[in-house]
Amino acid sequence: MSSEIIFNEIKDSRGVLVSFEGNKNIPFDIKRVYVIKNVPGGMARGGHAHKNLKQVIVCLKGSCDFDLVEAVGGRIIKTTHTLNSHTTGLLVENRTWREMKNFSEDCVLMVLASEHYSEDDYIRNYESFIENSGN
Ligand code: TYD
Repeated sequence: MSSEIIFNEIKDSRGVLVSFEGNKNIPFDIKRVYVIKNVPGGMARGGHAHKNLKQVIVCLKGSCDFDLVEAVGGRIIKTTHTLNSHTTGLLVENRTWREMKNFSEDCVLMVLASEHYSEDDYIRNYESFIENSGN
């Protein structure tokens, strides 16, 4: 199930360092990293799930909200997560519908992904996503 991961900060007089390592504090091999920023006020993103892709999303600056929908033990579970810290990652499992909203103007998201980009991996129809979940 999707969940939040807490990262350690290494702090000293020179500043703060946070490390992300595949198969250590990130629960998969990291094949791709991308950044989302400059999202205009009021704009939503997402609106899809993935067949195989797992992601950990880290908010490096500002804030935004993620609405997730996933099947757990045959039941559809909906959760909302506010991301506003570089010390928290949101693990989004495969077969999880996500909507991203309420972006602050300065929001910068870093997304760590388990797979290379593939349009074939996207599930873009919510009704068919729900129909194929929970069984
Ligand atoms: P999309 O996954 O729809 O973004 P979001 O989930 O944030 O709404 O991707 C937006 C566009 O960027 C789409 O045309 C696909 C392209 N894209 C890539 O080329 N490479 C990538 O790694 C990602 C994530 C998207």
